[in-house]
Formats: sequence, structure tokens, C-alpha cells
Amino acid sequence: MDAELVAAARAVRPNARAPFSRFQVGSAVRASSGKVYTGVNVESAAYPLTCCAERVAIYNAVTAGETSITAVAVATTANAAPCGGCRQVIFELGPEATVLIAGLEGAWTTTTIGALLPHGFDGSALPGGNAHDGRTVP
Ligand code: THU
Repeated sequence: MDAELVAAARAVRPNARAPFSRFQVGSAVRASSGKVYTGVNVESAAYPLTCCAERVAIYNAVTAGETSITAVAVATTANAAPCGGCRQVIFELGPEATVLIAGLEGAWTTTTIGALLPHGFDGSALPGGNAHDGRTVP
């Protein structure tokens, strides 16, 4: 299972659009349905518009109708861990998610979003809390 997710992240990484950083990132997430969704980083000449691979993968899953994730894999040349912003989004969609941090080949590191983002903000402090599923709005 984990090997499949890491392989999917590695497979899409060459599709990353990273002309400015020259740092390509591939990601794959497993949704609670069991299906796998992938993403790559997409950079813009207006730099802040860039979106990380992990969030592209998660947004692909949400677009397909998924509401939660169980695992995230990220593949780079540098065995880089997800950035802080992506940790937040991973936490919201998968507070128990496994995170697989991989290079381009060989073994990877297995951790959890709880370890990467302790005491994460889950939205429960917001007015109305986080009980709403976010989909059944008019
Ligand atoms: N990047 C990701 O795709 N994921 C991360 O978790 C860290 C950073 C991308 C964003 C940008 O395109 C490039 O890597 C350099 O920061």
C-alpha cells in the first residue's frame, strides 16, 4: 500500500512545473475510499500563486468527491518533508494521516501528520465549529 503511493508520487514528479525553483515535487494521496490521487507543484511567474504538489493532490481528491484522506506521499530529490501550509491542509482532511517522505528511489521515511503538526488547528474554534461537511450548502 505505502509502496504503491510512493511509486505514484515518484511517477508524476516529472510533470511538475517548476521553472523558477527547479525543484520538482510529486505527491500522491490515498483517500478514505481507497482511491489514489496525484499532484505536482505548479509554479507561476507571479511566485505566490505557486501551489505545492501535496495540495494539488488533495484538491484533486476533493474534486473527485472525496472528503478525507488516510495517507500522503511526497517525492523529491531531497527527501523533503511537506511545507507548513501543506501540513495544515493534510491535517484538516486527514488528522490521522500517514505521511511518506521519499527520494527518487529506495526506502522512504514513514511518519504521521500528528508528528509533523502537533496541536493542529482543526477549525473547531470557528463559529459553527467544524461539524459541517462543507458540501451540503445551498
Ligand atoms: N513545494 C512543494 O510542492 N511541496 C512542499 O511541501 C514544499 C515545496 C514546491 C513549491 C515550489 O514550487 C518548490 O517546491 C520550491 O519551494
